[in-house]
Amino acid sequence: MCGIVGYVGKKDAVEVLLEGLKKLEYRGYDSAGIAVIIDKELHIRRSVGKLCNLEENLAKNPLSISARIGIGHTRWATHGRPSEENAHPHTDSTKNIGIVHNGIIENYVELRSKLEKNGKNFKSETDTEVIAHLIKKHYNNNLLNAVQKTLSELGGSYALGIICMNEPDKILCARHNAPLIIGVGKGENFIASDILALLPYTREMIFLENGDIAEITADKIVIKDIKDNNITTREIKSVRWDAMQAKKDGYKHFMLKEIFEQPRTIEDTFRGRIYPDEGKVHIEEVKLKEKDIKKISNIYIVACGTSYHSALVSKFLFENFTRIPTEVDIASEFRYRAPILNENILVVVISQSGETADTLAALRFAKSRNCQTLAVCNVVGSTMSREAMYVIYTYCGPEIGVASTKAFTGQLTILYILALDWAYKRETLAKNELKTYLKELWEVPVKISKFLKNTEFVNDIAKLFAHKRDFLYLGRHVNHPVALEGALKLKEISYIHAEGYAAGEMKHGPIALVDESMPIVVIAVKSKVYEKIISNIEEAKARGATIIAVANESDKEIKHKSDHVIYVPKTDEFVSPLITVVPLQLLAYYIAVLLGRDIDQPRNLAKSVTVE
Ligand code: M6R
Repeated sequence: MCGIVGYVGKKDAVEVLLEGLKKLEYRGYDSAGIAVIIDKELHIRRSVGKLCNLEENLAKNPLSISARIGIGHTRWATHGRPSEENAHPHTDSTKNIGIVHNGIIENYVELRSKLEKNGKNFKSETDTEVIAHLIKKHYNNNLLNAVQKTLSELGGSYALGIICMNEPDKILCARHNAPLIIGVGKGENFIASDILALLPYTREMIFLENGDIAEITADKIVIKDIKDNNITTREIKSVRWDAMQAKKDGYKHFMLKEIFEQPRTIEDTFRGRIYPDEGKVHIEEVKLKEKDIKKISNIYIVACGTSYHSALVSKFLFENFTRIPTEVDIASEFRYRAPILNENILVVVISQSGETADTLAALRFAKSRNCQTLAVCNVVGSTMSREAMYVIYTYCGPEIGVASTKAFTGQLTILYILALDWAYKRETLAKNELKTYLKELWEVPVKISKFLKNTEFVNDIAKLFAHKRDFLYLGRHVNHPVALEGALKLKEISYIHAEGYAAGEMKHGPIALVDESMPIVVIAVKSKVYEKIISNIEEAKARGATIIAVANESDKEIKHKSDHVIYVPKTDEFVSPLITVVPLQLLAYYIAVLLGRDIDQPRNLAKSVTVE
């Protein structure tokens, strides 16, 4: 959730840290801070609220000279409200040690009370501050040693960056169940919670593993095992993303840019993996042979938020095409409901970040039950991508808007390809059908581009409804999860209450909510359930609702049944979520803009939820 950065080298450390924090701000934005060492003295600046407040603070209280080493943090509060005292970096009582932390120290109450009994004064309500006091307690002219001793006392999760004024040329970092990456430079090195903060400086990265502790100077990186102190070798990986992808590119918000990027990101995700003319699919990453695919008895798909919605769509794909019984679970529930698992079951985890704590825990749970595991991730080198048996990447590039958009369509693209490929291999789908479905997918980017050419009318609809207090979203079959996703998008960025429902469920309760003040967004594209959804529209209209239908361009009747129509190009019903979701993303976006909301960093949210 929180973002951490660190720098040691010849550049102005404050500039590098602020630049890195800007890239990480989407992970949390309750408060931010930096600590640097100048002339063997620790200097700290912290501010509540967004990063711009920290920048103002630094402008008012500048450092006397440039620092060459430092750490920084952007916070998403877990323990302790957002305040300057609770903002990171934290220090020990003598201000010797500076520390930034992402994660949760679960035994901090016990540790804190012991330290307080021994006379330590705490300045914050955070779990993190105990770490600074413990390091100081164990410090005997060897920071590495002191940190190792401290870590052996901690329970919970951490990614840590630590500096000490007695050893002013090094950063120590360690990880356990929270992501941490080292950026490898020339005469300089970096640490960060994710790739984005490092891209402006280097593409050479080391992804630390749980149990790693690293000692980093400008010229050297030494990684050790926290427990036995043995040196560990970790591969330096070259990352494909480039810094330009993480810029707004003339768009007002990242979310809008990411919505408009979808034709390209979908194409990038399927290019080289599907060949419609030949009816061929090539997914290099999954080394399952035909006989192994035939052996899969059940699929469980586990995810959170938007990724959970793409999982719900893919249940239809896997069951319809492969005939493998498929269940979908919310990751935070999965391991607590005692699912029946064994080695013939494939557990698929879907996660843009590859770091979501609950999804990661579900993956580990599945592994502990001997299941085969597959991760669908966007972030290269993320924890899930490394821990799952197989990983398939969506090639969406960095998604920075907290509201997920292009990751959803990227995930659907992968899941669609996978379901078709396995269906063919399991002989539940004929070659000509495979070709037809692949062609449908191939045409999706062009169809979305066509839709995105004129979006002004979606904005016009937004203007009519931005003042509403509640919204309903209805869909059936594969478009039921899209209704859920449309409602989630509206909720999270506009703060308007919205519910997604399976349209057929309306008369079992929710229809009681319907009156003249209720806008209902209905996904009514042509499919086997088209007639049914039209009946659901009639039922809602009869109770005074205002209907905004998402329908196919060829549908001449729909305008007589609804108040507003958003027309989208026609496609096969199983592929349709890739297209129907786009107007819903845009509608939420335009409404939130009209309400003056913080689009890319909505209140109370963070991009990756790395705590349970
Ligand atoms: O990185 P992940 O895909 O695992 O993230 C899952 C959810 O936290 C994420 O989709 C969240 O719901 C987004 N804010 C939705 O827009």
